[in-house]
Amino acid sequence: MNSFKSLPNLSAFSLFLALLLAGCLSVSAQAPAPDSPAIEAQAHAMIAKLTLEQKIELLGGVDNMFTRPMPSISLPQFKMSDASVGVRTWGPTTAYAGGVALAATWDTDFARKLGESLGRDARARNVNFLLGPGVNIARSPLSGRNFEYLSEDPFLNAALVVPFIEGVQSQGVAATVKHFALNDQEFNRHNASADVDERTMREIYLPAFEAAVTKAHVDAVMDSYNLVNGVHSTQNDFLNLKLLRGEWGFQGVLMSDWDATYDGVAAVNNGLDLEMPSPKFMNAKNLVPAVQSGQVKESTINEHLLRLFRTELRYGFTDRPQFDPADSTYSVRDRSVALQGALESITLLKNEGNLLPLDPHKVKSIAIIGPDAYPAVTGGGGSSEAHAFEPVSIVTGIANLLGPDVHIFYSAGIPDGPGQKELVAQADAVILSVGFSAATEREGADRTFTLPPGEDALIETVAAINPRTIVTITAGGGVDTSRWLDKVPVLLHTWYPGQEGGTAVAQILFGQHDPEAKLPVSFDRSWDQNPSSKWYNGDPKDNTTLHTIGADGQPKDYTIEHIKYGDKLMVGYRYWTTTGKHPLFPFGFGLSYTTFSFSKLDVPASAASGSAVNVSFDVTNAGSVAGADVAQLYVSDPSAQVDRPERELKGFAKVRLDPGETRPVTISLDARAFSYWDEPGQKWIIDPGKFTIRVGDSSENTPLQADIDLH
Ligand code: BGC
Repeated sequence: MNSFKSLPNLSAFSLFLALLLAGCLSVSAQAPAPDSPAIEAQAHAMIAKLTLEQKIELLGGVDNMFTRPMPSISLPQFKMSDASVGVRTWGPTTAYAGGVALAATWDTDFARKLGESLGRDARARNVNFLLGPGVNIARSPLSGRNFEYLSEDPFLNAALVVPFIEGVQSQGVAATVKHFALNDQEFNRHNASADVDERTMREIYLPAFEAAVTKAHVDAVMDSYNLVNGVHSTQNDFLNLKLLRGEWGFQGVLMSDWDATYDGVAAVNNGLDLEMPSPKFMNAKNLVPAVQSGQVKESTINEHLLRLFRTELRYGFTDRPQFDPADSTYSVRDRSVALQGALESITLLKNEGNLLPLDPHKVKSIAIIGPDAYPAVTGGGGSSEAHAFEPVSIVTGIANLLGPDVHIFYSAGIPDGPGQKELVAQADAVILSVGFSAATEREGADRTFTLPPGEDALIETVAAINPRTIVTITAGGGVDTSRWLDKVPVLLHTWYPGQEGGTAVAQILFGQHDPEAKLPVSFDRSWDQNPSSKWYNGDPKDNTTLHTIGADGQPKDYTIEHIKYGDKLMVGYRYWTTTGKHPLFPFGFGLSYTTFSFSKLDVPASAASGSAVNVSFDVTNAGSVAGADVAQLYVSDPSAQVDRPERELKGFAKVRLDPGETRPVTISLDARAFSYWDEPGQKWIIDPGKFTIRVGDSSENTPLQADIDLH
């Protein structure tokens, strides 16, 4: 009945043959089964057969990306893969516009589709646990992993992460939401403590994790490297026990980030189920004496194993091969998903004189310049770095679209060969592609707000030669554009667009696809205007020393930097709208080749506090090309008893419309949409009174407005 159990020593290939002979090749996507008495009984039976030492062995990973097998109970090892922008660990793959680019789509249907594709890519590679999605808040544009994460807004992150996780898990692959919690900068990530008050945590930094657990029923969570309020995440009772397991009822596996465990006893007692990638601390040397002395209860170790076993049994990992021959390693279907993600996420920020879209029939010569034009820059760097089979660069994408009759000139830097400058000056358009790359925006370090060295000068020089200069920027967030933005007519922000990025850029430039993305983060004019800039570094005077015992059993001290989150709730547009100041480009903003209008707002005049409130309005495509707009609903609470941000996103809908078409939209607001976290009372509360509902297509453009009285 159980092919894996009866064939524990077979190689993957012989297992494949065995299945082929057994006629079992119709294995297909298999969502996790609900917990059942049978699963519970089997998990307990597995534990009953293990010695204490064997149990402890199973609390640590093996070979960097696997759970540990236990032949005596026919338990195979289970495979993991990194995941933020593609299933990357096991060779070439499909590289998607993930993370912040996914957030720029504001498309919950697409989030599900992307999750399903990643789930298929995982099954094609025999992967059981996908180490994503990352959902940390984009607090500062410098954070090296913003490109892997989502947005600056907790509601948008939660709305996208739920269908994404459901999509992954529907394929029979356990998703791992990460990094729990407050990994909001990469600088000094092992030794920095995010010191933050509970209300800020609950309202800004935790909702996406909460939704992943309570709504999407994610089956794994990864603790972060950083400390939270002075305690490493992997041994943080508030995060792991009180919130995750207690309030949110998390049933899955809580694993550490790779080498983010510092104390085996503290980790075991504070919720960590699995130390990755190996048991440096949660091992027999540390835990057997701790069990004997009563510091750790054996029942606590059993509880960790039950969580691992239940999850593995729920997915049928022990009963079926994870490799699904129905899924291709090179997937043509997923290439179209990658293209869709790029088309929906590339954001048009400036289009002076409607220079775009370019007419492919009128363009006879085009100059493509800059380091991000070729080779393709598909993603940022670090553990998420996915290597695509055939990534399409901007040069290739434009050349493919224009065909053989158009002259294309390419140069990585300022062209200086004889005749080349004249050539750039006379080109019908210049596409100037600058920004960051996997080498300069990556895990483990933060980036600069200014573009990489020389790029500002490159833009200024080229813009001076040819006024039809279209700048594209590759970056996980805003950059300093102050030296040249007023000198170029067009700015297109590509994020990291995945393997089909070049095709998508070309289709948008030449009007084959109407730009539809909206900024998932506010773009600042300068780094010092960002609300987190004053709080980004810890004050050395606040440093503390953490005394621990290292993996070698010797005392080890760490100097901990305390990052005080003095910006509190004032993250991104919450800061800008509350202070009445304006960023360079506001959250939610993005241009299109058509225009949209909003009308007929219908909000009930009053409602019982805590009841669902339906808000309706119409969206019209008032222009002449088909396109999509994102209707955004912001709630203000002018009669609150505490300070609240001036407006907060509490609903959105992506609406696709033909020219002249009007569509009614209804958004339902639940109690949480009006609530704040009452720290003294330790609960979400609504202060009765007037609330203002605003609807539009950016945090600053909200043409519809109405009040509602909650009583
Ligand atoms: C990263 C994780 C990743 C892990 C395994 C760590 O460096 O922080 O996000 O899943 O490596 O590659």
